[in-house]
Amino acid sequence: MARPVSGVHVTGWGAYAPSLVLSNADLEKMVDTNDEWIFTRTGMRERRIAGPQETTASMAAVAGLRAIATAGLTPEDIDLILVGTLSPDYVMPSTAALVKDAIGNKRAAAMDLYAACSGFVYGYATANAYIASGMAKHVLVIGAETLSRYTDFSDRSTCILFGDGAGAVVLSASDEPGGTMGIEMTTDPSGAYLIWLPAGGSARPTTDGSLSSGEHYMKMKGTETFKMAVRTLGSTALAAAAKAGLQLSDIDLVVPHQANVRIIEALAKSLDFPMEKVFVNVACYGNTSAASVPLALSEAVAAGRVKKGDRLLFVAFGSGLTSGAIALEWTADPAAMSRADGIGPESVKILPGYLEPTNPFPPALEWLRK
Ligand code: ACO
Repeated sequence: MARPVSGVHVTGWGAYAPSLVLSNADLEKMVDTNDEWIFTRTGMRERRIAGPQETTASMAAVAGLRAIATAGLTPEDIDLILVGTLSPDYVMPSTAALVKDAIGNKRAAAMDLYAACSGFVYGYATANAYIASGMAKHVLVIGAETLSRYTDFSDRSTCILFGDGAGAVVLSASDEPGGTMGIEMTTDPSGAYLIWLPAGGSARPTTDGSLSSGEHYMKMKGTETFKMAVRTLGSTALAAAAKAGLQLSDIDLVVPHQANVRIIEALAKSLDFPMEKVFVNVACYGNTSAASVPLALSEAVAAGRVKKGDRLLFVAFGSGLTSGAIALEWTADPAAMSRADGIGPESVKILPGYLEPTNPFPPALEWLRK
């Protein structure tokens, strides 16, 4: 075990989104909805759908390899791999174990984190603790989801919202100034069943009955979730900033969970924080749960919205109801992400199981692939 360190820095970042696009116009052909309703209620225009050869682990591995390359490291430098996801490849083994194999790391510990849409922020906080205590030097933190395989494409109240993708950061130990400044994490089980997936766990194992009643799909009380989200995001963001010794006016960019642009706007309004300093990409990806913050972060850096010395705030909420926020000072060179050029899906190979492969692509979307 190394010595405890005073600084934990984002040294690498990367993302991956599948190429197949599901637009609002596509959804109009499937359920009673329309582009205008979806866009005005959510800010979403399209979302990405994982292809039949893609899984949470495969997308996570691409995002992870990109983050490692951006950090100027090799996979073997990573001591711990954390994957935040609610849509793992399997209940066991962990998705993180499959990612470890896919990126060619032989020595890291690897585990999944179940905190729904807060999974990446919870993973960041966990990695931070490992590094600060000296238990790890470089940790790969990934948020990755294949929500299309848990979505009921006949339910217009949920199927318009979710998409697939992955994002990652490498956190590294350093005694240089900057890096993580404040962390807040909360869980409020009074809202545990506002967003949930009833069947498939040990309380309600999968049966013919649960399958035919669609209990293996995500269910959500949208309006109640919306209200709790705004309240919780605001208090969590304020708490992380306070722990960092910052005022919100010190923050250069907020990278929030991309659940709904109206939630993000209501959050900004409740905090009296300008929307110009909030990064939003929900129009292109929908809600990708644990992937949304790191995916948005990578896009924000690529778009020139992040520079050395900036104070950033990540803030997320999700089923549980979990919530988490990280205040940090960015110390990396944004141009380093060009080191990841050339890394793509062909760069990773997921260790296969011993059963015959099946086609995991949602049957309701088969027409979209043609
Ligand atoms: N197209 C057209 N009409 C629709 C659609 C649709 N896709 N979906 C619902 N409607 C209808 C409803 O049936 C309702 O009709 P009614 O008045 O005749 O009953 C009407 O539109 C209004 O529905 P509401 O649910 O009240 O609409 P609301 O303005 O609340 O928007 C939404 C719904 C977008 C889901 C919003 O509540 C929301 O974003 N909630 C938060 C979602 C969220 O953040 N989830 C996080 C998940 S995090 C995780 O851990 C996975």
